Amino acid sequence: MTQLQLNPHLLNVPLYIAGKSIEEVQEELGLDEVVKLGSNENPLGPSPLAVEAARQMLSEAHRYPNYWEKVLRRKLGPATDPDFTEHNILIGNGGCDVLRMLTHAFMCEDGETITASATFPMFSILTTMFGGCTVEVPIRSDYHLDLPAIQRAITPATRMIFLCTPNNPTGTIITQCEADEFIVNIPEHVVVVFDESYGDFVANPQHVNSLRYIKQGRNVVTVRSFSKKSGLANLRVGYAIGRAEIIEGLHHAQIPFNTGSISLVAAIASLDDDDYQRRSVELVQAQRAYLYAAFDDLDLTYVPSEANFVLVTDLPMNAKTLAEAVLQKGVIIRWAGSMGLPDAFRVTVGTREQNEQFVDVLRAVLEKAKAVA
Ligand SMILES: Cc1ncc(COP(=O)(O)O)c(C=O)c1O
Repeated sequence: MTQLQLNPHLLNVPLYIAGKSIEEVQEELGLDEVVKLGSNENPLGPSPLAVEAARQMLSEAHRYPNYWEKVLRRKLGPATDPDFTEHNILIGNGGCDVLRMLTHAFMCEDGETITASATFPMFSILTTMFGGCTVEVPIRSDYHLDLPAIQRAITPATRMIFLCTPNNPTGTIITQCEADEFIVNIPEHVVVVFDESYGDFVANPQHVNSLRYIKQGRNVVTVRSFSKKSGLANLRVGYAIGRAEIIEGLHHAQIPFNTGSISLVAAIASLDDDDYQRRSVELVQAQRAYLYAAFDDLDLTYVPSEANFVLVTDLPMNAKTLAEAVLQKGVIIRWAGSMGLPDAFRVTVGTREQNEQFVDVLRAVLEKAKAVA
């Protein structure tokens, strides 16, 4: 018998726990109708312009993609900042692939990543995958990232710092003032990654403009995604923005043809669909307010969010049990345990109808728990 020689780093890589799909829950629980508010998807569905562009590109499915990646990069460069070109943009198979390329490019054996204790799990998963260790700095009591503490955790072994803003799962942002103070104290051997997958939803004018640091020539990379506001999670398009020298380096970690033309033209079309983009943001803002009011009514504590999800904390019952009970009634929400907050759950902002269904189920679950106690 041959001995399986798995890369030893992979043995330590925790598996990413994805949110449950509608089909999976229907199959498991025998339910006809399931509401999915567990994966921060866009409840509007994709932009009609994106769907049409993708449909037309299907007849080219037999060809390898190459041209459309350049078109998207050319469009995204100046769209993110007038000073940027295609040379400042790297396209990935979703933001996760971009994070993978970044970690592959900058992590080394025994190198360290610093991130927050309650954040997107891929930062530490990828660090382990590429042989590094993750230092998790506790978040503040108000659920914001603690930038001074992250800065104090830097050592000669630090290679990368991942800052998620708005942060998944807390929905809190990093302000320009906080980031300005932080960035001037970052040594040159460290790359700071701003994950702005949810940045399109932010209304607060104090939100950090991380592109400013890129223009200053710093070792900063910003990651964005077409999965959220652009509603293309299934087509897997994300991108990095950085100075040309860094982007050039990241290309060495890119798998050829990592994103297909069907996805690329859909992303290009969605960028042009101003009406859809506006409606996506307006829906989140209006429906987030609806959820806040419902949580107030139920006497639940939540963290004010700048994203398309809300974290509900300090629950009157076990958070995992609550999320499971809500699921049994056909609504998928996310227990925040795998994101460092075992006493909380995260719910995606849905349509009014979906949110009402969720609130009804949540109320019933809380009342039942109260009656049993
Ligand atoms: C903080 C954060 N970053 C990156 C991603 C990756 O998104 P995608 O790979 O769909 O672009 C997600 C997905 O939920 C996320 O929450």
